[in-house]
Amino acid sequence: MKEIKIATTLYLYDDLDALPKEVILLMQKAIEARDKAYAPYSNFSVGAALLLDNGKIITGSNQENASYPSGLCAERTAIYYAGSQYPKAKIIRMAISAGSKNKQTTEPIPPCGACRQAIAEYEIKQDTPIEIYFMGSTGKVAKSNSLANLLPLVFDRSVL
Ligand code: THU
Repeated sequence: MKEIKIATTLYLYDDLDALPKEVILLMQKAIEARDKAYAPYSNFSVGAALLLDNGKIITGSNQENASYPSGLCAERTAIYYAGSQYPKAKIIRMAISAGSKNKQTTEPIPPCGACRQAIAEYEIKQDTPIEIYFMGSTGKVAKSNSLANLLPLVFDRSVL
């Protein structure tokens, strides 16, 4: 038996203003997108903004449904739109902001496992890392240099 330890690296910024200007602008798009969330069941709204290498910014928000599993997270709404509209463009970075009507979200809120799996597909497809920035509605911002850092032991096409 052999023990395997897996380490990952994240960078934590005290607030949005500590980030480079272009990242602040992208996060502001994510925050604006959060206001367009349709989340009457969870009261938890998420916005995501992607910067593509063609200069386009794609945004998405979570869209819920009375049949709960039919809803979709903000990150997948955005990345599937980007993939369907700009299939050849590479994704440079993604900014995510999550907020709840029920409580203040001041700590970074990472993308869920299903969204990490979806983003991983595009990172592997384009063969360059996607930077991921995530936060609550205010406060600290976390950065991962790649999706791979957020999803060790990824299930990918290599096993198929
Ligand atoms: N949600 C997202 O949009 N992204 C995530 O990464 C986690 C969860 C949404 C789904 C649902 O509409 C609400 O947040 C509560 O789970």
